[in-house]
Amino acid sequence: MFREFEVTDHPPTGTRPAVDWRVHLVPQDWDHFSGDEHSVWETLFARQVPYLGSRIVTPFLEGIPMLGLDQPGIPNLDRLNDRLEPLTGWRCVSVPGLVPDDAFFAMLADRRFPIGNFIRSADSLDYLEEPDCFHDIFGHVPMLAHEPIARLMQAMGRLGVDAVATGLGETISRLYWHTVEFGLAREGGELKILGAGLASSFGEAHFAIEADVQRLRFTLKDAAATAYRSDAFQPLYFVSDSLEYAAAELEALDLTQLKALAG
Ligand SMILES: [Fe+2]
Repeated sequence: MFREFEVTDHPPTGTRPAVDWRVHLVPQDWDHFSGDEHSVWETLFARQVPYLGSRIVTPFLEGIPMLGLDQPGIPNLDRLNDRLEPLTGWRCVSVPGLVPDDAFFAMLADRRFPIGNFIRSADSLDYLEEPDCFHDIFGHVPMLAHEPIARLMQAMGRLGVDAVATGLGETISRLYWHTVEFGLAREGGELKILGAGLASSFGEAHFAIEADVQRLRFTLKDAAATAYRSDAFQPLYFVSDSLEYAAAELEALDLTQLKALAG
């Protein structure tokens, strides 16, 4: 069945500032990954999936086989996109590492998700200086096959571009961090992992679900007012009433409301 998505092959137009995110892309060049690097992916995957099984929101688990992420080795982005794009219009694009916030949000606005074109080494499975392809693909991409998240991520991108341009980058980043990256959510009354930072981290997935750590009900106001840690486990986690609740709240947010949240 043919579906139309709001995706363009040109930089965004209209009121949003034009940010040419394409200057940050590199070819994935999948053949450059060594056998050892594919083995790192497989080790991480084999360790993470059994733990997440009963502890992560259902669309994440459904997305893995739907996108062929259960096949051995680091995914080839062309093949991954062949499965992902017909579902929700999202495509993965390859980048050398972290991209500036304005380019990152501009990619999301165009339903493009940046994938770091490297993987951690076998002797530091639990340490990351910046997101690698295991975090970016395994953590984020299964959820991009789920339409409510696909819409939410694009909405965050559109708002993020405006937010960064108007000095509200920290506020939108906090909302993103406390949901998309390190959020928890209720599903059928149970506490589940929602965020990609948790989904892709063996240690912090355990910590967020099982440790004696503060967990607060997610509200836009509280999440916007709460700083986050990028160098250590979070000191507290926000729990959305449901994945759909968080997605709808964030998708409906506009720049005026974001300004009010920033105070
Ligand atoms: Fe991430």
